[in-house]
Amino acid sequence: MSYQSEYLLAKNNPTQYWQEQAKLIDWFQAPTNILSQDQDDFYHWYADGSLNTSYLALDYHVKQGRGEQTALIYDSPVTNTKEKYSYAELTVLVAKFADVLAKQGVTKGDRVLIYMPMIPQAAIAMLATARLGAIHSVVFGGFAPHELAVRIDDATPKVVVTASCGVEIEKVIAYKPMIDKAFEDAIHKPDTCIVYQRDLVKADLLPNRDIDWQQAMINATEHEPVPVLGKDPLYILYTSGTTGKPKGVVRENGGHAIAMKYSMDINYGVKPGDVFWAASDVGWVVGHSYIVYGPLISGCATVLYEGKPIKTPDAGAFWRVCEEYNVNVLFSAPTAFRAIRKEDPHGNELSKYNLPSLKRLYLAGERLDPATYHWLNDITHLPVIDHWWQTETGWPIAGIPVGLDTMEPKEGSAGVATPGYQIEILDPDGVPVNKGESGYIAIKLPLPPGCLPTIWNDPERFKVGYLNSFPGYYVTGDGGYIDKDDYLFIMGRTDDVINVAGHRLSTGEMEEVISNHKDVAECAVVGIKCKLKGQVPLALIVLKNGCEQTTEVHKVLKELIRDQIGAIASLKEVLTIDRLPKTRSGKILRKVMRQMIDGEEVQVPSTIDDMSILDELKISFRVLT
Ligand code: COA
Ligand code: AMP
Repeated sequence: MSYQSEYLLAKNNPTQYWQEQAKLIDWFQAPTNILSQDQDDFYHWYADGSLNTSYLALDYHVKQGRGEQTALIYDSPVTNTKEKYSYAELTVLVAKFADVLAKQGVTKGDRVLIYMPMIPQAAIAMLATARLGAIHSVVFGGFAPHELAVRIDDATPKVVVTASCGVEIEKVIAYKPMIDKAFEDAIHKPDTCIVYQRDLVKADLLPNRDIDWQQAMINATEHEPVPVLGKDPLYILYTSGTTGKPKGVVRENGGHAIAMKYSMDINYGVKPGDVFWAASDVGWVVGHSYIVYGPLISGCATVLYEGKPIKTPDAGAFWRVCEEYNVNVLFSAPTAFRAIRKEDPHGNELSKYNLPSLKRLYLAGERLDPATYHWLNDITHLPVIDHWWQTETGWPIAGIPVGLDTMEPKEGSAGVATPGYQIEILDPDGVPVNKGESGYIAIKLPLPPGCLPTIWNDPERFKVGYLNSFPGYYVTGDGGYIDKDDYLFIMGRTDDVINVAGHRLSTGEMEEVISNHKDVAECAVVGIKCKLKGQVPLALIVLKNGCEQTTEVHKVLKELIRDQIGAIASLKEVLTIDRLPKTRSGKILRKVMRQMIDGEEVQVPSTIDDMSILDELKISFRVLT
C-alpha cells in the first residue's frame, strides 16, 4: 500500500474508503449507513453498526486464542509495584467491575466520571463503563475540586469512580477529600462514589454514598458486553478552550474503534503481541487512545506507568521500562525528553540499558523543538517521529505513516496528512494559501471516523468554535504551513490556549480566577517560552486604585490558581503593571506582550489604542529577563 494511493482513495471517496476499513473490527452487526448527517448537519460514521468497544479490546482477543497473552503491564516506581494482566485476566476484572457499576444502576447512555491516578483500575473502570454501553468521562488527577465540580455538572454522572490517593514522586495526594469537596460544590449530585482503596491511604467512606471497590468486587459476577450503535458515545473528554468552561469532546463507539485500529496499523505500524508504551496519563486523550483503547483493540500489550521521566528514580526511568518489557514503540511528549536531556545530556543513563526491541519513538502534544529531536535521534539512533493531533480528533491528523511507506521525518515538521484528513492552510478570508505560506490550519469536512461529532450538551459551541469560521472546514486552532513536499509545520495556537508541559490549558480560565481577587482591576495571562515545559503561564495584573503592590497579592493569586484549577497550571510568575495594551475597541493585546517577553519580532496592530504603552511595558518586563 502506498501513502499516495491511500491518501487519494480516502480523499476522493471517503465513504467507500471507510466502508472498507470497517472490516478491520469484529462488529456484532456490520454498519450499512457508513456516513450520515444529523439535524445540525454534524457527521456520524457507522451510525447503525452494532458493536461493543470493551468486547473489541478484550473478549475478542480471548476468543482468538490470545487469552494468555499480556494485555496490560503496570509499572509503578512510586509504589515499587510491577504487575502483568493477561487478556483473559483483564476481561474478567472488567466484566466484574461492569457488574459493580450495573448494580449501582448504570445502564447504556449513563455517564460515569473517573478521577483516578495511573493504576490499572483506571483502565478497568473505563473498559467496564464501555462494556455497559455507558459513557465515561475521565478527569485528569492533577485537576482541583473546582474543575471536577464543573465537569460533574456538565456530564451529570450517575457514578463517580476514584481511588484513595495518587502519588506524585514522593508526595502522596489524598483524592477523597477532593472528591468530597467537588460533590459539595457541584449542583448535580451523583448517586454513588466507588473508591479503590490503595495501601498508602485508606479513605473514609460515607455510609449512604460511597462504596469500597475491593469489597464490591468480591460478590460481583461477570457482565456481558452490551451492544451499542456506532453513533452511541463511548466517552466525553473535557479539554480547554478559550473561555473558562471546558469543552466536552464527544467520541462515538463506531468511528473510534476503526480509528484506533487504523492508526495503530498506519501511524504506529504495530501488530498483535507488540508492546506499546504511551508515557502519558489516562486523563489526557493520549492516554485514552494509546494507553487504553488503541493498543488493546490492536491486541498489543500496553504499559501503564505510574512515574515520571526523571526522579522516579532517575533520568534512566524510560529506558529501564523499555528494556524490562521489551517495548517496541515509545510515545511521549517533548517536554518529558527535555527533562531527561537536562539531567542526562550525554545519554549515560541510556547506555546502561539494552534496547534491541525498541523500533521507533513518537512525540506529540506540543512542538518538537529541533534540539530535542536531534539529541534523541543521536543518542538512540532510532527514528524520532513528531506527529500532530488534538483531543478533538483523538488520533493523528499528521505524522509519518510507517505502516504504508518508508517516508522520512523532516526536522521541525509534524509529518504529512494521515489518509482521511484533508489539511488545508487558509488565509483570514478562508481562501487556501500557496505552499510555504502560513495561515490557519483547517481540515475539510467530513472529518474521518473517530473525530468529535459535537460538543457534549453544546452543539452551538461546536458550530461557533470549530465550524462557522470557514464554512466546509473544521478549524483546528493551530497555525502553520505546508511545504513543497506536503510536510506540515505547526507554528502554534491561533487562540488563547497554551500548552504547559504537554498539558493544554486555557489562559481565559486563569484570567477568570485571577480577576475574582478583590484587588485586581484587570489582568491578562500569556504563555511565555520555557526551556523545559515549552510554555508557562505568566499573569500580568493591574491593581485597583489604592491597592498596594505586594508580594502577598502575587502569592495569593498563585495559590488561587492551584486551588481552583490545579498545580499543573504551574502559574509561577505574576507581574503587576500599570496598564494593559489594548486596541481602540478595548481588546487586550496578549500576543504583543507575549512577543515582547519572548524577544520575538513584535507585530503591533494598527488598531492599538496608545503606542506609548509599549515603552512602559518594555521597562516593566525587564524584571523577567
Ligand atoms: N496529580 C496531582 N498533581 C499533579 C499531577 C497529578 N496527576 N500531575 C502533576 N501534578 C502536579 C505536580 O506535582 C506539580 O506540583 P508542584 O508544583 O507542587 O510541584 C505540578 O502539578 C506541575 O507538574 P508537572 O507539570 O508534571 O511539572 P514538574 O515540574 O513536576 O515536572 C516534567 C516536569 C517535564 C517532568 C513533567 O511535566 C512531565 O513528565 N511531563 C510529561 C507530560 C506528559 O506526559 N504529557 C502527556 C501529553 S502527551
Ligand atoms: P491536546 O488536545 O491537549 O492534545 O492539545 C492539542 C494541541 O497541542 C494542538 O492543537 C497543538 O496546539 C498542540 N500539539 C499537539 N501535537 C503537536 C505537535 N506535534 N506539534 C505542535 N503542536 C502540537
